[in-house]
Amino acid sequence: MTQLRPDMFDEAAVRLDGVSLRYDSTEEILSGIDLVLKPGSFSFLTGASGAGKSSLLKLLYLAQPPSQGEVSLFGRPTSRLSRDELSAMRRRVGVVFQEFRLLNHLTAYENVALPLRVMGRKESQYRRDVEELLRWVGLGERLHKRPETLSGGEQQRVAIARAVVTQPNLLIADEPTGNVDPDMAARLMRLFYELNKRLGTTVVIATHDLGLIRQIDAPVYRLADGMLVQENGEVAPTARRRTDPLRAMP
Ligand SMILES: Nc1ncnc2c1ncn2[C@@H]1O[C@H](COP(=O)(O)OP(=O)(O)OP(=O)(O)O)[C@@H](O)[C@H]1O
Ligand SMILES: [Mg+2]
Repeated sequence: MTQLRPDMFDEAAVRLDGVSLRYDSTEEILSGIDLVLKPGSFSFLTGASGAGKSSLLKLLYLAQPPSQGEVSLFGRPTSRLSRDELSAMRRRVGVVFQEFRLLNHLTAYENVALPLRVMGRKESQYRRDVEELLRWVGLGERLHKRPETLSGGEQQRVAIARAVVTQPNLLIADEPTGNVDPDMAARLMRLFYELNKRLGTTVVIATHDLGLIRQIDAPVYRLADGMLVQENGEVAPTARRRTDPLRAMP
């Protein structure tokens, strides 16, 4: 019989039990995956292109139900939640999409402010914070540009600012530094690291950038052939902080 330990009763931020995913064909993209991510943990998800990283993340941000198994967030199984309960849970999750998904008719500033507006916050309360966050990611001169007039790396930084501005409990980032240079990638990683350490945000980052993974001592989960295995996180000192990204958070 399994021995009962106190930590077995801690609610996981993310829990997958026997999760499988097929899209339309018979091919299984994910096969019987079990995973527990504790609140306040920081994890990397890696694997070859097409291995299913984005698919696994879609399950975590509740955009896709699994074909089999259960996805639980914040201690609650999600398969039987009502639509309202699902929406409430999604509001606790910040997502950086691999393809950004910015709204083209809004400016960079408006894209980042949108989740705060949706939450009913007043612009007078968040304007300075949104501006400061955008400055922190190097977009102080681009606040009022629309996404289609920004470079790929600039759009990616808007997407990151939008995902973190609400201080979500769970941050899911899909190749969040794929379009920026190494210095900016290190700066963005520092933002995720500070969120994790100072606010206790559970962070999951999908990447195949080994350089990025080496910056933070965190578990690395690798997807291959539909299965997930944990590798040892490589230990390396985190880059020194120059300014405080969290000062920009509302
Ligand atoms: N909506 C979909 N419908 C059908 N098949 C899909 C869909 N999305 C992804 N796939 C397939 O699932 C597999 C995994 O794709 P996924 O995007 O999850 O991989 P990935 O690891 O994120 O790859 P990359 O590193 O290139 O971003 C691929 O074979 C892909 O063709
Ligand atoms: Mg992907």
